[in-house]
Amino acid sequence: MKIKLSNGQTIPVEMHKVKVVQKTSLPPARQRLAAIERAGYNTFLLRTRDVFLDMLTDSGTNAMSDNQLASMMVADDAYAGSESFYRLADAVQDVLGFAYVMPVHQGRAAEHLLAKAFVKPGDVVLMNYHFTTSKAHVELAGGTVLEIFGDEALNTQSRAPFKGNLDLDKFEAAIRQYGADKIAYVRMEATTNLIGGQPFALENLRQVKALAAAHGIPLVFDGSLISENAYFIRQREPEYAHRTLAEIFREMMRYVDILYLSGRKSTSVRGGLIATNHKEYYDRILPWLPVYEGFATYGGMSTKEVEAMAVGIREMADDHVAGATPEFIEYFVARLLERGVPVVTPAGGLACHVDARRFLPHLPQSQYPAGALAAAIYIASGVRSMERGTISSDRDAQGNDVYADLELARLALPRRVYTMSHIEYTVDRLAWLYQHRDLVGGLRFVEEPPVLRFFFGRLAPLDDWGAQLVKAFEADFGPDF
Ligand code: F0G
Repeated sequence: MKIKLSNGQTIPVEMHKVKVVQKTSLPPARQRLAAIERAGYNTFLLRTRDVFLDMLTDSGTNAMSDNQLASMMVADDAYAGSESFYRLADAVQDVLGFAYVMPVHQGRAAEHLLAKAFVKPGDVVLMNYHFTTSKAHVELAGGTVLEIFGDEALNTQSRAPFKGNLDLDKFEAAIRQYGADKIAYVRMEATTNLIGGQPFALENLRQVKALAAAHGIPLVFDGSLISENAYFIRQREPEYAHRTLAEIFREMMRYVDILYLSGRKSTSVRGGLIATNHKEYYDRILPWLPVYEGFATYGGMSTKEVEAMAVGIREMADDHVAGATPEFIEYFVARLLERGVPVVTPAGGLACHVDARRFLPHLPQSQYPAGALAAAIYIASGVRSMERGTISSDRDAQGNDVYADLELARLALPRRVYTMSHIEYTVDRLAWLYQHRDLVGGLRFVEEPPVLRFFFGRLAPLDDWGAQLVKAFEADFGPDF
């Protein structure tokens, strides 16, 4: 909830109390440099013990509610016919309006099953923007991904409210070019992750559905960040300003043929699901569920998590749950802009995204500016962010880097985990780093896996810039921080 203070300032306020805590520690800069060196300058390879604030992701790292935790105690561990599943199915029916539900162990498992059931070699999947795993599964099934976003989508400084909109003219052009029968589905990703957590408008979804339906193309909705997209629709689309989030969910889902989601985000658990009202689609996917995931009533999830997801789906329609991260991200982004740090605007869902190309203009994309920035942020603060740039795109068939549209260092805010002082600290250290940006150098790969290389790839700095950064840091803050 946003609250106006007597000095006129508006701040986000947590509408929950902390009941359980996990200790954290702040290793000093010198130790942080040693840790990032051990991690091959890849923040994925850091250990929790070396991290002060973990803003790598909001996936599976959210604070669960007391009701979610309580529900886990009544989980029914039956292999088949678990009552926990039926409570999940009821929640999906009530909140999202789908009759058929398949749990899966996480979002990418849903993407795998959808690609298996719908994508044939030579097919095209249209997207408002790709996500790393959604693209990988389409390509592994022999398809290609075509992103058809609008002109503002990649402009990090634009304040356009709906950068996640799918471009309808490009959609029509793709139908003409490939033919509708070659388009396996059109995928709309809620609160588009890789371009800065940017939402699409409900009006856009409605138009995409009309065009897709006219050509018999299924509309697949990636709802991993569904509650944030609903929150932004209400905030930014005047027609919905006075609607409840529950109403916005139902309205969005009217246009959706297949919903899938990573339950690790909006529902604050570890799991995922696929839901639909089309029996034929359900029948096409279901046989593969026990092959890759588990029986139809648990899908590879722990039944405790199935229970908690049922509660999480009901809770995500609560304004204070859906608004928890967007309001803090808005504050985070505003404070960084005040300090001159280049960030993606408008503030989106899931994270504050720092624009590495504008932060480190002296680094060409071949030196991985977003990866260098993520490593430098860690050295300067102990905060773990994630590279979302060229390192997150795999090489092409010729072995060349595919330069990403955007070079971002993403500081994710897991839901209900961090406090205002954590945000203030991070803002301060990012502002300090920005003042010392000239010290940050580039990276090169020393070990590089062939697929999703950002997870396990190891890199090295092009010179000893890490040590230079620590020297400057210690000159300002001493050796203890
Ligand atoms: N779709 C979106 C939009 C996502 O953000 C993610 C995961 C997935 C699908 C895959 O789901 O992780 O449960 O298999 N995003 C995480 C992140 C990994 O850090 O942004 P998953």
